[in-house]
Amino acid sequence: MPELDLPQRQAPDALMLTGFWYRALPADRVHGNQLHKATLLEIPLVIGRDRVGQPFALRDACPHRGMPLNRGQFDGENLECPYHGWQFDVHNGQCQLIPSLTSDQTLKVDRIYAGSFPCEEQDAFIWVYIPDPAPQGAGFTQPSEAPDAAPQIEKFSAKYKLAYLQAEMPVSIDHGIIGLMDPAHGPFVHQAWWWRSRHSIHEKKKNFEPIPNGFRMSAHTPSSNSAPYKLLRFYANAESITTTIDFVLPNVRTETIRAGKYWFSSLTTVTPITRNHCRIDVVAAWNLFRWLPFGPDLLKFVFAKFVEQDRRTMEMQAEGLKHNPHLMLIDDADRPAKWYFQLKAAHLEAKRTGAEMKHPMTGPVALRWRS
Ligand code: FES
Ligand SMILES: [Fe+2]
Repeated sequence: MPELDLPQRQAPDALMLTGFWYRALPADRVHGNQLHKATLLEIPLVIGRDRVGQPFALRDACPHRGMPLNRGQFDGENLECPYHGWQFDVHNGQCQLIPSLTSDQTLKVDRIYAGSFPCEEQDAFIWVYIPDPAPQGAGFTQPSEAPDAAPQIEKFSAKYKLAYLQAEMPVSIDHGIIGLMDPAHGPFVHQAWWWRSRHSIHEKKKNFEPIPNGFRMSAHTPSSNSAPYKLLRFYANAESITTTIDFVLPNVRTETIRAGKYWFSSLTTVTPITRNHCRIDVVAAWNLFRWLPFGPDLLKFVFAKFVEQDRRTMEMQAEGLKHNPHLMLIDDADRPAKWYFQLKAAHLEAKRTGAEMKHPMTGPVALRWRS
């Protein structure tokens, strides 16, 4: 596996990983026969729902002469290109009609495809699977299939609330991700009277362990210096509160908090839009405070505040990154970021050689930092 310890090498190269599911759009934005534009990994997409509400994603370019298909006509089944009226089945991209053909012309219409992507709705989002780039037979490539289902939020009871929020950031996927897993920015970026102040900074020790394609911050009792956790412990009347935080490639952070019969679960993704642009989507599910009218709003307020603080920070960071500075990652606070880069490199190496992925962590590790 390539050695990634030189600071210069750790300057994110914004490589975007294919062969994974990515969140494209909040599901509640896509209604009826509307066509929506979205971009994932620099691929322009058109997204919509068919007559029965099933979502679809096509490459937003007609295989004939590249017209954006989002400008076309959609009847709930087929999408018609506005340029020469070719029609495509929205679920597999297969061409259904070429109006200019005469009855004796033998072009096999059904062998022509608009690019189409596996698409699923899951926990408030429309997800799109971005396959590895295949050798293209221009316009004759059949759609790929996803090897697995889109990631889901883990839920621990039948009834729960669900909410999402998102923020766009003018930095690469790598900066977005390492910003998300960075423990040391908390006291400086996320100050609030109800959370913590920079004076509450203290030494912490957390245990990490390898999991397939990622790592886990093992179950523990979260920082006792934050008011919401104190409140939670009181409210749930629970002996202990456990929190588990997982990161898995390419971009998924899940957090699970359990206190007695109460739980809170979130699945956060950082999605590469383009090389220099990413979007953070937080979706949370919980059964805490379900009976409190202001519960969901309160939680959303807290999360929105955090995400906004991160967004503003990365916007400022993007100013500095414009000039391509040398960067460094230090131990132990930036070790998760190092693991991320090593996981990414190991994943790519395994793909290249066809061998099993060699996990950069050999076993559990305790990290210490002040935050
Ligand atoms: S460009 Fe779409 S039909 Fe010609
Ligand atoms: Fe943050």
